[in-house]
Amino acid sequence: MNTLRVALDGPAGAGKSTVAKLAAKALGVTYVDTGAMYRAITWKALQEKIDLADQAALTELSTRVKIEFQLTKEGQNVSVDGADITEAIRSGEVTSNVSAVSAVSGVREAMVKLQQEIAAQTGVVMDGRDIGTVVLPDANVKIWLTASVEERAQRRYQELVAKGQTLDYDQLKAEIERRDLLDSGREHSPMKKADDAIVVDTTGQSIEMVIEQILHICRSAEAQND
Ligand code: CDP
Ligand code: CDP
Repeated sequence: MNTLRVALDGPAGAGKSTVAKLAAKALGVTYVDTGAMYRAITWKALQEKIDLADQAALTELSTRVKIEFQLTKEGQNVSVDGADITEAIRSGEVTSNVSAVSAVSGVREAMVKLQQEIAAQTGVVMDGRDIGTVVLPDANVKIWLTASVEERAQRRYQELVAKGQTLDYDQLKAEIERRDLLDSGREHSPMKKADDAIVVDTTGQSIEMVIEQILHICRSAEAQND
């Protein structure tokens, strides 16, 4: 079994999930989208009409629900208690509330535990905000993926327009900036570059160029481990 553990952190729209998915496949390890877990809890909380200011109720929810990933031809599906929520967790409502839910310490404890359990069983490329600092502090490779906020907003804008959504670019950019600020400013495991993470700035770079760099970093680490 390939036990390589790669932590891939960075702000919204940096390309983490795109790159993590492809890199995991090339390296023969499991891709774990930790953002999808916080989105799943947020989706379920909205479904159950839980007051998002009620930290005890959110903590109880996150220890009760069963989050699962299923591999598909296109990538990965996410389900909560058996319901497929792959598309639902990308809604504007989930996106604008996820930072508040993920700031709750009890929610983070439950998700970090789940993430660490997965990484104890298999090699991973795990993407998120606190993977290199909190979830996998001993990861073989830590990468901080970033890009200018304009480019990150532009990428997300194009992605949503391609899905048929009508939206305002400036509003989308402001929403990304707001989420980055909340994620990096929270008390419990804020979004932060690990001191030993390698910075990869993807501004102006194609997905292929970024993948090449990431695989080079990972394979060098694998070679050192052998
Ligand atoms: O794909 P995008 O960058 O929009 O976000 P995501 O990776 O799906 O993460 C959604 C939200 O979950 C983030 O804005 C954070 O609030 C939270 N998150 C977190 O707190 N810690 C993680 N390890 C991953 C995500
Ligand atoms: O997971 P994260 O929020 O960091 O970003 P993502 O969802 O992987 O990427 C956001 C969008 O940017 C996707 O539509 C990617 O296809 C695109 N992208 C890109 O155009 N160029 C890159 N170098 C990386 C991602």
